[in-house]
Amino acid sequence: MTQKYIIALDQGTTSCRTVILNKEEKIVAKTQEEFKQIFPQSGWVEHDANEILQTQLSTLQKAIEQAKISPLEIAGIGITNQRETTVVWNKNTGKPIYNAIVWQDKRTAATCELLKETGLENYVRKTTGLVIDSYFSATKIHWILNTIEGAQEDAEKGNLLFGTIDSWLLWNLTNGKVHATDYSNASRTMLYDIKNLCWDDTLVKELNIPISMLPEVKPSSFHFGNYELDGVQIPIAGIAGDQQSALFGQACFKKGEAKNTYGTGCFMLMNTGENLEYSEDGLISTIAWGINNKVYYALEGSVFVAGSAIQWLRDGLQMINNAEESELFAEKVTEENPVYVVPAFAGLGAPYWDMYARGAVFGLTRDTGKNHLIKATLQSLAYQTKDILDVMQKDSMLQLSSLKVDGGACANNLLMQFQADILNVSVERPEEIETTVMGAAYLAGFCVGFWQQNEIISKRKIDKTFTPSFSKEKREKLYRTWQKAVERTKDWID
Ligand code: G3P
Repeated sequence: MTQKYIIALDQGTTSCRTVILNKEEKIVAKTQEEFKQIFPQSGWVEHDANEILQTQLSTLQKAIEQAKISPLEIAGIGITNQRETTVVWNKNTGKPIYNAIVWQDKRTAATCELLKETGLENYVRKTTGLVIDSYFSATKIHWILNTIEGAQEDAEKGNLLFGTIDSWLLWNLTNGKVHATDYSNASRTMLYDIKNLCWDDTLVKELNIPISMLPEVKPSSFHFGNYELDGVQIPIAGIAGDQQSALFGQACFKKGEAKNTYGTGCFMLMNTGENLEYSEDGLISTIAWGINNKVYYALEGSVFVAGSAIQWLRDGLQMINNAEESELFAEKVTEENPVYVVPAFAGLGAPYWDMYARGAVFGLTRDTGKNHLIKATLQSLAYQTKDILDVMQKDSMLQLSSLKVDGGACANNLLMQFQADILNVSVERPEEIETTVMGAAYLAGFCVGFWQQNEIISKRKIDKTFTPSFSKEKREKLYRTWQKAVERTKDWID
């Protein structure tokens, strides 16, 4: 039987998804299931790693049923995942010793302050490309080892393993045979030397993390191991963190090409080719992917709250029933919106890096209504993107002629138009906005020879281009007010 399909597993912050693609890159099955978000204390966010695994497997099984295909027809599996989220498990029992600590979790802010006081800031930046922040995995691993009774000792005895979610899934899908990750995920731990491509001794020692618990790091397009399904061995042949995967899925293979994904957060990445470049203004340097014996880098601007602000409108404020409705309500505000929402619910990411900032609403007047708040929340995604793009253009000394977008919220036309207006750059929405899964599928597909890289570039189609329409004066005035609002949310928590 010929192999006709590639499967991509997309393990995101709020849901697990499985997508099956045929040779023509058409989606033949798509399944999605949400899982529990656990908030044990203010600023803490956890996931049940076993629930993630079961949910992922359930979507996989349902996708295979939906597509009505046999395991023999599957050429390979690619995995893409929420990054940084940290799982520590016992390799003998296979059980996590604590819930997964999610990338948004702020419990290790004080540990980060201590690290900064030891004068490691510059070292961390040069070695890992990152800023010291609770966002990354390192201090989360440290917290687990320090807090769970006997964990440090057990880790030193070699009984515990650490993984970002890709490693956790890989280890389970290979029945505990493979403990590995790819360059893109390793580069989010704040323990990985992204230039010399190895775990960094100094940082590992500083945080008391036994190197034996860290996964082997491999290229992103690589045969990691096999998943056995009904007696058939299916190669797991691609892994990448979801943002790097979206950059790959948008076919941003060349230096200077950039994309912005509107997911739970908002992540803009620019390919900087084989050169590791550093930002002077709060962007991080990260590994984009490893493929064909080469490692490619990217500059990244990470915004912590984007789509989750729309979720807040739906679940927290109960102003909308679903994300699509946000556009309908926002459209009702036809005059200039005087309201600004700064959704610093989890502190501020790039370019501000303030773990102590918290969200706020500005510009309220007696006639402010729900529509204004909804529109301001949508606009906050665009303003945060502008914060990043300005810095990215300055640091890379490249002027973007257009911005490639993807992710759920890019279906919102009002938001995309405002994005183009406030950036003064056209915004290009592809026909296929599932770029995150496409990236993982391509990485796996290239590895097993299912596709060739040049085949896919020729197929990328644009759905719509949004052209800027604001005058310079209007754009600058709106953005100045946004900057004023952001300033006032900083350093809120003592
Ligand atoms: O760095 C966190 C990021 O990988 C989360 O992505 O798509 O789950 O919001 P997403």
